[in-house]
Amino acid sequence: MSEIFIQDENSIRKEILDKVKDIYKVRKESEKFIEGKTKIHYSGRVFDENEMIAVVDSALDFWLTLGRKSIEFTDAFKNFLGIKNCLVTNSGSSANLIAVSSLCSRQLINPLNDGDEVITTAVTFPTTLNPIIQNNLKPIFVDVEQGTYNIDPKLIEQAITDKTRAIIFAHTLGNPADMDAIMEIAEKNKLYIIEDTCDALGSTYDGRFCGTFGDFSTYSFYAAHHITMGEGGAICTNNPELSRIALSIRDWGRACYCQQDEKNPNGACNHRFDFKFGNMPEGYDHKYIYTNIGYNLKPLDIQCAMGIKQLEKLPVFIQKRKENFKKLYNCLKKYEDKVILPKSYKKADPAWFSFPITVRDNVGFTRRDFVRFLESRGIETRMLFAGNILNQPAYKNINHKIIGELSNSTQVLSSTFFIGVYPGITTEMMNYMISTIEDFFKNIATGLKI
Ligand SMILES: Cc1ncc(COP(=O)(O)O)c(C=O)c1O
Repeated sequence: MSEIFIQDENSIRKEILDKVKDIYKVRKESEKFIEGKTKIHYSGRVFDENEMIAVVDSALDFWLTLGRKSIEFTDAFKNFLGIKNCLVTNSGSSANLIAVSSLCSRQLINPLNDGDEVITTAVTFPTTLNPIIQNNLKPIFVDVEQGTYNIDPKLIEQAITDKTRAIIFAHTLGNPADMDAIMEIAEKNKLYIIEDTCDALGSTYDGRFCGTFGDFSTYSFYAAHHITMGEGGAICTNNPELSRIALSIRDWGRACYCQQDEKNPNGACNHRFDFKFGNMPEGYDHKYIYTNIGYNLKPLDIQCAMGIKQLEKLPVFIQKRKENFKKLYNCLKKYEDKVILPKSYKKADPAWFSFPITVRDNVGFTRRDFVRFLESRGIETRMLFAGNILNQPAYKNINHKIIGELSNSTQVLSSTFFIGVYPGITTEMMNYMISTIEDFFKNIATGLKI
């Protein structure tokens, strides 16, 4: 009889993970930058064998739904930011939806009600705005500042009425908003603050991380962001009541909030059948009691396994984004008569998402000329998200109010774009980006066709 060799699980796993490492190596070795041919993306995932191994290892566990990797990730994320509560979500958009919906929860003593006003910016990502509309609140649009692309605090003051309940804004492209002014207004007028920090993980204001000032902060881990899980996001808060409501809204609206994991599949509290809620029968399973109008906005544990490895790289990623930003800034500084360069507040230290450029009026070229030139040479560009979102087809008929003129937002719509600073841009790529920008301005100066 031939002998059957049965490997134990650990040695099979090791063999698989060693092969994963080999695949990464083979792919990496075949990567080569060719000027004009290799696309320089505006952003993208930056990873090594450790992320690939973490994902495969977690897939082999086959736990799949949220479990120990999500706890490990949220603990590390909280620790990094210095914040008390964090929930992972399946996207930054979902995190925004949870944040706004939580402020409308009937579990709050004084929730936001239909028609209450929420101040936000017209230059925005759609899913920063959409949860306001979705929750029957009224968006009040104010302009952004030229160059910072952030909410203008002077206009916030003008927008406040007795119906105003909250301010929702993004730290645009990683550039911290004026948190001193915003928090002062919020405190004076008892307004909730949601910081959309999807593009600003690692940016600081007055030495404090963006996302740690307001009632909620939200993050995206889509591949373009500072760290990635492929898709994914997070919502953070220092407020335990808001955290519990957010958990409920993320998890179908259910009341049960105690830890459920491999060790405690029925929940850690051991009181599943001990409660009485309103008209529900005594002892009805707490897992099926719903105290909020919720959704299911959870990611997979596999995504969190990747996030843990990305978080370890975050300090290096932040540094690299800052360095790449500086190089582009130094190159573009001499063309400031033609383009508006990004500006930050004194107390701000941005971990830039990207490098925004606004083409000034009547300078002999347009945004389209600049963008086409860069794209034709392999340098990817993007518009500043929706531009002035009120010009977008989907938003034609929304119930809203505008404060002032939105002239800077309209300028963003017509004349702003951005290019990349992400850590995947190597020195070689950055040198090529800079020489291409120089070529563009040389062609403009000498009247050459662009
Ligand atoms: C400012 C801002 N908010 C929200 C989002 C949405 O994040 P996600 O793509 O993870 O839904 C993005 C996406 O890029 C964003 O830039």
